[in-house]
Amino acid sequence: MKKLTELMAEELSAAFEKAGYDPAYGKVNVSNRPDLCEYQCNGAMAGAKAYKKAPFMIADDVVANLKGSRIFSMAEVVKPGFINLKVSEEYLAQYLKDMADDEKLSVNTAENPKTIIIDYGGPNVAKPLHVGHLRSAIIGESIKRIGRFVGHKVIGDVHLGDWGLQMGLIITELKHRQPELVYFDDSYTGTYPEEAPFTIGELEEIYPSASAKSKEDEAYRAEALEATHLLQQGKPGYMALWNHIMNVSVTDLKRNYANLNVTFDLWKKESDAQPYIPDMVEKMKEQGFAYEDQGALVVDVKEESDTKEIPPCMLLKSDGASLYTTTDLATIVERMKLFNPDEILYVVDKRQELHFIQVFRCARKTGLVKEDTKLSFLGFGTMNGKDGKPFKTREGGVMRLENLITDIDEEMFHKIVENRSVKDKDAQETAKIVGLSAIKYGDLSNQATKDYVFDIDRFTSFEGNTGPYILYTIVRIKSILNRYQEEGGDLSAGEILAAVNESEKNLMLQLTGFGTTVESAFEEKAPHKICAYIYEVSNAFNSFYHETKILSESDEAKKQSFIQLLQLTKKVLETSIDLLGFSAPDKM
Ligand code: ARG
Repeated sequence: MKKLTELMAEELSAAFEKAGYDPAYGKVNVSNRPDLCEYQCNGAMAGAKAYKKAPFMIADDVVANLKGSRIFSMAEVVKPGFINLKVSEEYLAQYLKDMADDEKLSVNTAENPKTIIIDYGGPNVAKPLHVGHLRSAIIGESIKRIGRFVGHKVIGDVHLGDWGLQMGLIITELKHRQPELVYFDDSYTGTYPEEAPFTIGELEEIYPSASAKSKEDEAYRAEALEATHLLQQGKPGYMALWNHIMNVSVTDLKRNYANLNVTFDLWKKESDAQPYIPDMVEKMKEQGFAYEDQGALVVDVKEESDTKEIPPCMLLKSDGASLYTTTDLATIVERMKLFNPDEILYVVDKRQELHFIQVFRCARKTGLVKEDTKLSFLGFGTMNGKDGKPFKTREGGVMRLENLITDIDEEMFHKIVENRSVKDKDAQETAKIVGLSAIKYGDLSNQATKDYVFDIDRFTSFEGNTGPYILYTIVRIKSILNRYQEEGGDLSAGEILAAVNESEKNLMLQLTGFGTTVESAFEEKAPHKICAYIYEVSNAFNSFYHETKILSESDEAKKQSFIQLLQLTKKVLETSIDLLGFSAPDKM
């Protein structure tokens, strides 16, 4: 479906052409002077030089050709040569009717759908999820949903960190605590127990204590490195323990992500890429890309145009061990083999940018990907506390994601109970739904690459640019629609008519922006554009609501038109928040 601005541009282009000018000058933009007009065309200004003519003369010629246009109720030349435009109320109403009938609400779906893998989440097994993983999950999930909405095949992969030293540390600590466990008996040849020798609670305590010890105790660290090495070689007892760690951890992670309304299509892990490493490295050597440097195996990735030093990509350490980089390269090999994607997008902390520059360059140089396979990195900023430093607990420790969510839900619960709009027994459930909107909107409303301050008070407020404010608006619409039905109204009756006042027209104009917003949010991987959009729509709706008697309107056709407009507004807002990864309650 064409965008309203496109339809206007077609009309303008025809008017330029009819007057003897290049139709390319007919572009139309949303006005940046809403006090003067709704849209504007600056083509006459742009064309002045080419035609050696004063811009207002060109504009006059064009506007003369717009007389009798169905689209515009006003087309006016303003010196030095702007064309100020207003849409006809009838045309706008018709456009919204078409939009309401369109399954995608005017968003055009991709003509050539792409296969896109999004690598997000990136939690590390056996370590609790912390707020650093929050952003990846929230942003990645939203981009995945937007990508699907615009018609691409998007595959979300959690890419679990399961292959590092943390595994060796856990195994070592277990061995110190319970040396009698069968996993440590080298002469044992039977099958290993099905039940894990620890719970998730224990596991989460084991890792930090092992990690702390390894920093103080050199021998302990050496032991953990050795355990990691043996695990990677496939020592049966350690493999069995690794399996237990994985099962216990993944169950817990899935529960945590479910609370965030985040789901992954793939639960692949760093270890899945390991089998691809030997061949990959061998090829890179054969092709002459990989060479030995002080015992390590590296590939140069610097380029002439670099302004800062990009160090070589290290494939193998001098002891033959592979690294984070090697794993990411081998994961690309696996992804190409299994999914042949057109794009792989990594949603990871921007502090890992250099790592991804190296990986991408190396992958391209050594031919791991096709020439037209896109490798993209969306590096997000840090979530800070009010003190401007990375978000911590009150005690100064790393904030666990679960605790952060509980804090928000409690705050929401208080606010909802204060409002007394929801029965106590439902307040808890509602607090969770609204709390999630507070967290996600608080994050997504910022440009992903920027740092932001996580401010519970502000994020949970029902007023201002917040998730709860958007939900409040949706709930308000739902309650009007419910009352309408209780009074015997039929939601399918009537149709959208020409706006009756300025605030209704403004709401209508805002709604027409949905398609452009979603398409550009996808192009630019920018969910914040959807946030900014729904904030405007919500403001426009609330002004309309305050200035217009809706249910007490005595003209039945008008009332039905309002109800149709409310339903479209609700659909636009609900679709948008679904793209952001949260939903609205029925009451709040
Ligand atoms: N597990 C990593 C971390 O916590 C993030 C993984 C990001 N994805 C990737 N393909 N490297 O830092």
